[in-house]
Amino acid sequence: MDHSSRGGAGAPPVFARSEMSADRVATSGIPDYLEETYHWAYLSKLGRLLLDRSLVVSSILWGNAGRLIRATTDELRPGERVLQPACVYGSFSRQLASAVGSEGCLDIIDVAPIQVEHCQRKLKDFPQAQVHLANAATWGDYDYDTVCCFFLLHEVPEDYKHRIVNNLLGALSQGGKAVFVDYHRPHRLHPLKGVMRAVFGSLEPYAQSLWKHEISSYAENAGDFSWSKRTYFGGLYQKVIAQRG
Ligand SMILES: C[S@@+](CC[C@H](N)C(=O)[O-])C[C@H]1O[C@@H](n2cnc3c(N)ncnc32)[C@H](O)[C@@H]1O
Repeated sequence: MDHSSRGGAGAPPVFARSEMSADRVATSGIPDYLEETYHWAYLSKLGRLLLDRSLVVSSILWGNAGRLIRATTDELRPGERVLQPACVYGSFSRQLASAVGSEGCLDIIDVAPIQVEHCQRKLKDFPQAQVHLANAATWGDYDYDTVCCFFLLHEVPEDYKHRIVNNLLGALSQGGKAVFVDYHRPHRLHPLKGVMRAVFGSLEPYAQSLWKHEISSYAENAGDFSWSKRTYFGGLYQKVIAQRG
């Protein structure tokens, strides 16, 4: 399948690894919040080297990575057309690619060229997966059976949360579903509540709004979807499903 020819008008191109020059890496349209808050984690080679390990991802999620990834892949069927709007460290993308199988199609987008290049390398054995340099708030392709938005929303400011949620919902086919896995307000007696508040206060300034706002509240046409939510690990994490029609 030629993925580079798909997409609506204005859909960003797929970048072959050879096209990703050092200049591109230095000058692409990276949003301010990413540069200012997360440069160390996602835009530097050192951050990528240190963090792109399943053990690190699992530790950051207090041992829940496997469970939350399974909660996502459980929503997929072989042969589906799936969008992953942002690269994720560890084995997440490979597990999505395995879940859709060789008859399926997985589009992964990320706004950071360094992540796109790295993810292309990680997925070279999965021809069903294509990695694109693009912004989840403006990606223009549609007709996806499932969109898997894994721990992206907590890293973006409020206006971006609105734009990303609405753009992803608009990318769904009739009957398609968006799966949002992210932070959620923990139980009031949760032993890690104070720790997480301190982590958000020092490192993740856009995360704690997910303790106050339902993900459905970011959708303009929330009524066009049926919503369900399940929480995990004392409420610290959530899986929200929005099914169209
Ligand atoms: C999905 S989030 C975090 C996931 C998880 N914490 C992990 O271990 O990777 C990180 C990725 O989101 C990307 N990103 C941030 N804002 C984006 C946007 N608006 N569109 C596409 N990708 C974005 C960053 O470049 C980064 O690669």
